[in-house]
Amino acid sequence: MNSFRFHNPTQLIFGRNAVDQLGSNIAGYGKSVLLVYGGGSIKQTGLYDKVMAQLRSAGMAVHELAGIEPNPRLSTVHKGIELCRRHGVEFILAVGGGSVIDAAKAIAVGVPYEGDVWDFCMRRARIEKALPLGTVLTLSATGSEMNGNAVITNWEEKQKRSFGSIHAYPQFSILAPELTFTVPANQTAYGSVDMMSHVFEQYFSKTTGTPLQERLCESILQTVVENAPIAVREPENYDARANLMLCGTYALNGGMISVGMENDWASHAIEHEISAIYDIAHGAGLAIVFPNWMKYVYKERIDRFVQYAERVWAIERAGRTDDEMALAGIEATRAFFTSIGAPARLADVGIGSESLDRMAEEAVRFGPIGSFKKLGKDDVRAILEMCL
Ligand code: NZQ
Ligand code: ZN
Repeated sequence: MNSFRFHNPTQLIFGRNAVDQLGSNIAGYGKSVLLVYGGGSIKQTGLYDKVMAQLRSAGMAVHELAGIEPNPRLSTVHKGIELCRRHGVEFILAVGGGSVIDAAKAIAVGVPYEGDVWDFCMRRARIEKALPLGTVLTLSATGSEMNGNAVITNWEEKQKRSFGSIHAYPQFSILAPELTFTVPANQTAYGSVDMMSHVFEQYFSKTTGTPLQERLCESILQTVVENAPIAVREPENYDARANLMLCGTYALNGGMISVGMENDWASHAIEHEISAIYDIAHGAGLAIVFPNWMKYVYKERIDRFVQYAERVWAIERAGRTDDEMALAGIEATRAFFTSIGAPARLADVGIGSESLDRMAEEAVRFGPIGSFKKLGKDDVRAILEMCL
């Protein structure tokens, strides 16, 4: 196990009707808030009215930035920064999924910065401060509600890039599982793939001597495998939604489940290149990329893949070789993703081979990616070809 430091400052307020606690939690953060939300789901579900009532009860002046896109755009972030500066906003409240929360984070770090917030995504500047922000989560997937990361798309340049900072962690996140009852089946599936992928990026590690972390990872994977099909079938099943929500939050919250372990993140880098150009849902892209990444790299550490097959999928040895065990675990992953409605090939989401070179090149823009197996441009291209 490697040495580590771990600090996560986000307070979680979890449970049915937790949104009723928004007013009391936001009071104390000033008098002026920017409410950030997406394309309208919060108006259809009635959540918007509840949030506004809470903000009024806390005596906040509310400014609004609506219409955050899935795969949020830099241009929309710029609008938010402008609004905050113009109105002297003191707190940012994101109500939505990962895209809304990420846009809110980019606005929060962009307001006190003199340059363009895109500098942070392109690693041209360090984040020194941010406006405080809070979230009301409506979709279980990214973990953005309890981490300091954001992923922003510069649509004009077809670039999707991320930043991470301790200053971008939410002060608090309201996690009320019933707010995810209305998430459609496909987004439920993509979110489940995303949280499993976050665990994979940490679990498939070269670091040894980490049995607790491995079991934490495996327990999240098993819990998603149990609950995602229920949530897809019965969208208003509270327990399934609650378990998925907790899984998503724990899967990517500053590395709690993988402290002291080297992480990989190559599959995320590859997926971000796909959604940067084709604007597909992140979890859909991961469902295509991850099983192929697994096939490409499993020989690097076959014992971990055997353990994965045995513990997560309960695949029995029954005379199988290590290779056969590893491949059976990968096949089980693929079959599970398909069973909940996630795509298997780029062709399933209408993508051909036309941009493979560009995607491979951009994925390694800052150097080789991954640590389980370091991937250069040719490796990324080979994995993308397997995805066709
Ligand atoms: O825009 P609205 O109308 O809200 O609709 C959204 C959107 O169309 C809808 N939705 C959300 N909550 C709903 C709902 N519909 C009905 N009922 C509800 N309760 O779902 C659609 C997708 O929302 P989005 O926020 O885009 O999904 P997700 O949470 O999966 O976020 C994806 C974004 O997060 C980034 C991805 O790359 C992508 O840009 N990621 C962020 C990470 C982070 N900050 O740590 C890590 C991830 O790996 C990921 O890269
Ligand atoms: Zn992800």
